[in-house]
Amino acid sequence: MSRLLIKADNLITMDNDNMIINGGEIAVEGNRIIHVGPQGSSPADFKPEKVVGGDNMLAMPGFVNCHTHASMTLLRSYADDLPLMKWLQEKIWPFEDNMTAEDNYWGAMLCCLEMIKSGTTAFADMYMHMERAAEAVKKTGMRASLSRGLIGIAPHGAQALEENRDFVREYNGAAGGRINCMFGPHAPYTCPPEYIKQVIEYAGELGTGIHIHLAETQTEYKDIYDEYGKTSIQLMDSIGLFELPVIAAHCVHLDDADIKILADKKAGIAHCPESNMKLASGIAPVKKIMESGAVVGLGTDGASSNNNLDMLEELHCATLLQKVDTKDPTALPACEVLTSATKKGAEVLGLQQEIGMLKPGYKADLILINMNKPHLRPLHNPMAHIAYAASSSDIDTTIVDGQVLMENRRVLTIDEDEVYGKIDECTSRLLSEAAK
Ligand code: NI
Repeated sequence: MSRLLIKADNLITMDNDNMIINGGEIAVEGNRIIHVGPQGSSPADFKPEKVVGGDNMLAMPGFVNCHTHASMTLLRSYADDLPLMKWLQEKIWPFEDNMTAEDNYWGAMLCCLEMIKSGTTAFADMYMHMERAAEAVKKTGMRASLSRGLIGIAPHGAQALEENRDFVREYNGAAGGRINCMFGPHAPYTCPPEYIKQVIEYAGELGTGIHIHLAETQTEYKDIYDEYGKTSIQLMDSIGLFELPVIAAHCVHLDDADIKILADKKAGIAHCPESNMKLASGIAPVKKIMESGAVVGLGTDGASSNNNLDMLEELHCATLLQKVDTKDPTALPACEVLTSATKKGAEVLGLQQEIGMLKPGYKADLILINMNKPHLRPLHNPMAHIAYAASSSDIDTTIVDGQVLMENRRVLTIDEDEVYGKIDECTSRLLSEAAK
């Protein structure tokens, strides 16, 4: 079993009893943390094969990106500054129609590369050709909850649901447990209640969860209410969605009854502030949702509505946006937004017993940030630095499941040039097909 010792000037553990340790170390055996404490405090018989980190490093749990569409990296900056439905119907969906399994693989590889370089160690994904996304996750060493995107009203909606079921059966628990699989009904306005009931039945049978977009736009809120006499959240509650583990992406347009349902049913909320801003969807009432006791993680959404997968940017935006929205500078303080990006994010993915904290017994999913940067000095408050000042290029080392995926900013599991070359090939072919 491999043994790794990680040293850092500061450890943000996110563990309730011991949030910050100055001059600390983490001992890792295999894929698990066995000790966290001051430097020199690891068990005397622990003989590391490798030591990483050192002076000027800050260690913390890796970021959990609770909502994305990995292979949409291929559509980054392909279509921008358009209304949501025009953007989807005229640009995104026609481009996606030509995407092959191979395109999805390289899109997912680019996603994993970007995430490793920006400190994300786990993500929840919803898209097509998920077996190829799973291969990318396996190869790169990332951790992921993967679900096949399902459009119930599409001609192939029933077939897609069967594919999702096969995918869950084949890949749930794959890559040594780094891959979890869920079902991915897109949204209430593309998946009618009868279809989602079938999804719920399948997910229940297979003991897994559901990843869905909910209450994203004002249009959705109004259309669903007009058709069913209920909000999206209340409609989903009435058919039993929240009896299963759920990742509810967005949750922007909510009434008080919706918030109570999400809190009571312990639904996982993926707050995606940059996507909500870019698509002008609105501002999620995160402060109010959190006060209700609901579980809120952060997500980037796909690269075509963000346009990157950078969780540090998402942290900055999440906290600043709540302050602006509530006109309250104490809203979503640094510690809370960090909790959302790590520990609560793990809970949204159903992995709160495994990741999200630097704690003995937890999986070793963590990052080292190089604090030897002008914008990170002096070090009055490490958490505030992460929430307001750090950028992804400060991430030095990324470790998932005890494996070092990036050290000294060099990614060890991916040939970067190969990925860029393949992405160029895929996109030039897709563009020529889109022009036909
Ligand atoms: Ni999305």
